[in-house]
Amino acid sequence: MSNKIRDAVRKIGDREREALGHVARGDTYGEIARRLNVSPHAVGKSTATGISLRERAAGGPRQRPVPPAPSEGARETVPFAELLKRHRGRSGLTQQQLADFATLSVRAIRDLESGRVRRPRRESVGLLADALRLGDTERLQLHAAGGSPADLRVSLFELPAQPALPEPPAPPGALVGREAELQVLLDQVTVHGHRLVSVVGIGGIGKTHLVLEAAQVLRARGRRVGWYAPAGDPLCCGAIPAAGSGSGERPPGAAGSTDDLVEAIGDRYDLLVIDGDDAPGPGRVDIGELLRRRPGLRVVVTGLTPRHLPGERVLPLTAMAVPEEARDYDHARLSEVASVALFLSHMRRSRPGFRLRQDNAHAVAGLCRWLDGVPRALEYAAGWCLVYPPELLLARAGRDSSLLSSPAGCGCQDLLRSLARSVGIVTERHRRVLAEVADRPHWTVADLDHLVPDPAAALHALLVHGLVRPAGAHLPEHFTALHLVRLLHGRDRTPAGVARAG
Ligand SMILES: Nc1ncnc2c1ncn2[C@@H]1O[C@H](COP(=O)(O)OP(=O)(O)OP(=O)(O)O)[C@@H](O)[C@H]1O
Ligand SMILES: [Mg+2]
Repeated sequence: MSNKIRDAVRKIGDREREALGHVARGDTYGEIARRLNVSPHAVGKSTATGISLRERAAGGPRQRPVPPAPSEGARETVPFAELLKRHRGRSGLTQQQLADFATLSVRAIRDLESGRVRRPRRESVGLLADALRLGDTERLQLHAAGGSPADLRVSLFELPAQPALPEPPAPPGALVGREAELQVLLDQVTVHGHRLVSVVGIGGIGKTHLVLEAAQVLRARGRRVGWYAPAGDPLCCGAIPAAGSGSGERPPGAAGSTDDLVEAIGDRYDLLVIDGDDAPGPGRVDIGELLRRRPGLRVVVTGLTPRHLPGERVLPLTAMAVPEEARDYDHARLSEVASVALFLSHMRRSRPGFRLRQDNAHAVAGLCRWLDGVPRALEYAAGWCLVYPPELLLARAGRDSSLLSSPAGCGCQDLLRSLARSVGIVTERHRRVLAEVADRPHWTVADLDHLVPDPAAALHALLVHGLVRPAGAHLPEHFTALHLVRLLHGRDRTPAGVARAG
């Protein structure tokens, strides 16, 4: 027995060890679960039980099964039809909707729920479990109720030692705008079947929110989506983890290395979302290796920069649309500009009565422009509006850099700090180009000619990293650095900034 197995066996209780002594190759999953008197999930997931069961089944003499306790038998007798109806009722889906999500006919659902069909095909049960978004335990229960076919028993024995990855969390709120980006992302992994899509952009631009939304859509369509968020902001003191991101620690039971992740994925997932695996170093997932060892897997990864792997598709997330400067604003149209809509949605949470009016429309539009339509910046600004009304906030914004941090959270999560990481990632040459153009209101690629031998490539790199943006519809072919980049450069030119850089 290997050390791994010995350690695992040591972890389980006496009752479980005793029960395992009675497991034989022909036992069904239900029998094993009854003997252990644990949830099916525990049988399937436990490192200890998984490995020991396999060893027992392979080598040990066939033991006489332990008869189930009378009270325990009842738990196993929920018919498939009943269980399916319960899960469907809980999910709020109609039979037609469930049929659509599971890609089965509505007649098949009716037959199953009426009990006319009692032993559905294993693949159909899998599709139903996906459509109902069942967790591991409920999925196994559904399989067991559908007849616990022999291959299920085998797959239970062969479940990898590593626990499965967590499910993607729900998005932190409604996705504002970004319809086009969401559609492109979904198409890339489904219609076009690309195996690696990198969603890149500066910190707070909305990478995590977008991939969470995509994961939710794909799960509703029955795709099996795994979630891996290695860590929160590695430079943060860790007090406030970003929404939907990791807590700063490796997720429980999840991988600490590519090998572990390959194990955890097994053949459980069609798609793995890796969120924010930016910190270079040994703990970073080797995505090329992952794709080689799991040939059926697709990966969506978020980060500040692309991975530069063969076949990789890059989806750069740029800032949200901001309102053009205007003498007067039509409030209805202004509130439809994506950055304004997002700002207002945050404002309503902290100040439910807030409305766009003649006296605040310019300030709201000005703030959205000043903050480059960066979602996290808009969220922070709306938070500060509890203290300062938008007009005052805009007036103070240039002088008070603390307004670029969360009013409620950790001071170290300031926007310029995370922006500095993106600037630090681009090559030295492109950084110099950025420094040259940052203070100009707008410029074209031709203006970069004298700065670098490959001006188009330089502009491309700066756009992909989200540090510059098109100047607006009224200035085609013109670009401008983010205002936040200008602020960063301005700060770095102050004596404190120079000292920090030195
Ligand atoms: N399109 C959007 N609609 C609504 N809220 C959004 C949108 N995009 C981003 N947000 C919100 O803005 C904040 C920052 O977004 P998010 O955490 O996704 O950024 P990120 O690019 O993943 O940042 P980081 O690089 O720091 O991980 C979050 O609170 C998120 O919910
Ligand atoms: Mg993120």
